[in-house]
Amino acid sequence: MGGLLHSLPMMLSVAPRVSDAFINGGGVPFEDYGQDGILAIDLMNRGLYEQRFVSYWLKSMPTVYEKLTTGGRVLDFGCGTGHATLTMAGAFAKSQFIGLDIDPASIDQASKNAQDAGLTSNLNFVRGTFSDLEPGQQFDLITTCDCIHDLTDPVGVLKKLCDLLSADGTLFIIEPKVADSLTENINPIGALYYGMSVFHCMTQSLAAGGPGLGTCLGPSGMESLVKEAGFNSFEVLELKSQMTLFYAVRH
Ligand SMILES: C[S@@+](CC[C@H](N)C(=O)[O-])C[C@H]1O[C@@H](n2cnc3c(N)ncnc32)[C@H](O)[C@@H]1O
Repeated sequence: MGGLLHSLPMMLSVAPRVSDAFINGGGVPFEDYGQDGILAIDLMNRGLYEQRFVSYWLKSMPTVYEKLTTGGRVLDFGCGTGHATLTMAGAFAKSQFIGLDIDPASIDQASKNAQDAGLTSNLNFVRGTFSDLEPGQQFDLITTCDCIHDLTDPVGVLKKLCDLLSADGTLFIIEPKVADSLTENINPIGALYYGMSVFHCMTQSLAAGGPGLGTCLGPSGMESLVKEAGFNSFEVLELKSQMTLFYAVRH
């Protein structure tokens, strides 16, 4: 909850600019939230990743867990400050991990976090996007956490992830827990997420010319995107969480 509170000043500080964007178009770019924005996302998600990512979420997919235990290749797309990647790399010493993020400040922090944790042998943080990865790679697991709804080209990114996923691999998507329709989201968590959407997720996508999908995309919206990108299998995982939805996507 502390991380959530940290996000309030950074979101409200852009309120006049969001208001202006409602009238004139555009939005507030991701980088304009500065270090406060990066720290808020880090504080909101880090505890969950450290406590649940491996021991509960990944364990719910036994073939994925087994593959990582014996040695697999993992890409964490849009890794931010890298706590999901770091947690996995710490737990699965025989697997190789790449964290990829387009935001220089986030990836610099992720690299520092890896050094502080002494986790560098099976982990590499890459600043940039797909063209910055070594060509010809395939991954057994691709994770993308709290990220797809932010993208400027969600279907384009999902198509690339589809190409990078091995034939029997899994794309594990984590997204905010909301229902498909506005009326089903009339509750405190829906209100919180719509607020965060207007003041961060939606506006930063619109600022970069994206569709501004926003935080409250919901499972049907996500299923449409992944099917349009070429995946055939879309599963909503039955994991306990008040705030988070989990999808396992496969060829
Ligand atoms: C809300 S943050 C989530 C960060 C992290 N995955 C987490 O769960 O805390 C979304 C991240 O996606 C990254 N991102 C957005 N578009 C991207 C792209 N085209 N390629 C790589 N990363 C991207 C942003 O820089 C940002 O760090």
